Amino acid sequence: MHIDAWFATPIYNGEIVPTKEQKNKIERYFYKYTQENGDKIFIGNSLNITGDVTGQHQISELEEFEWINEHLYGHIDNYLRAIGVNTSKYKFYIQKSWPVICDEGGGVAPHAHMNSHLSAVFYIRCGPDNGGDIIFTSSPDHPLNVLPVHIPNTNVKYTPTENQLLIFPSSLRHKVTEFYGKDFRFSISYDIMITTHININSDSESDVSNPDLWVSLGD
Ligand SMILES: [Fe+2]
Repeated sequence: MHIDAWFATPIYNGEIVPTKEQKNKIERYFYKYTQENGDKIFIGNSLNITGDVTGQHQISELEEFEWINEHLYGHIDNYLRAIGVNTSKYKFYIQKSWPVICDEGGGVAPHAHMNSHLSAVFYIRCGPDNGGDIIFTSSPDHPLNVLPVHIPNTNVKYTPTENQLLIFPSSLRHKVTEFYGKDFRFSISYDIMITTHININSDSESDVSNPDLWVSLGD
């Protein structure tokens, strides 16, 4: 006999390698941002700044980060094609992008990004063996999780490395374990929307239409 394991959750594990100059510019941004916002968010005594709650919702527009967008597009396209999606039917948009800074003792509580379709994290700076791992948890309504038995391995851990890019469905719950490095850990988070093109020539049922086709109310 054997067991067929179907309906896996695909997590994309790739890499974007900046030039020295690109890396320096990004790190300069992060240090400046940390200096300016360091007093805003503490968990206990630990610094943990997530840009989306301190007014930095779309850093992809900034010159320091703009070059990443084309790479991100390629990786998202790869990810979806690898799971059988005809990506020519769709457009991808960065809905939000924000810096995340952890200092010693920082971490991120379990959450999912219910506001978006795909999420990505790009690691700029993270020393090895310093904690700050990202842990994904299988959905509570997964068929195994509703069985009345304890099943190990319903979590999966990634220990981030510099330049690593992870892409995953936004509804997948995840958390970041306590970071105990002596220097800051820097990463960029992205929320991605998948929509139709502006010209919809075929059936668009279940698709999200292109934002250029939306009609604003209440103006
Ligand atoms: Fe997250």
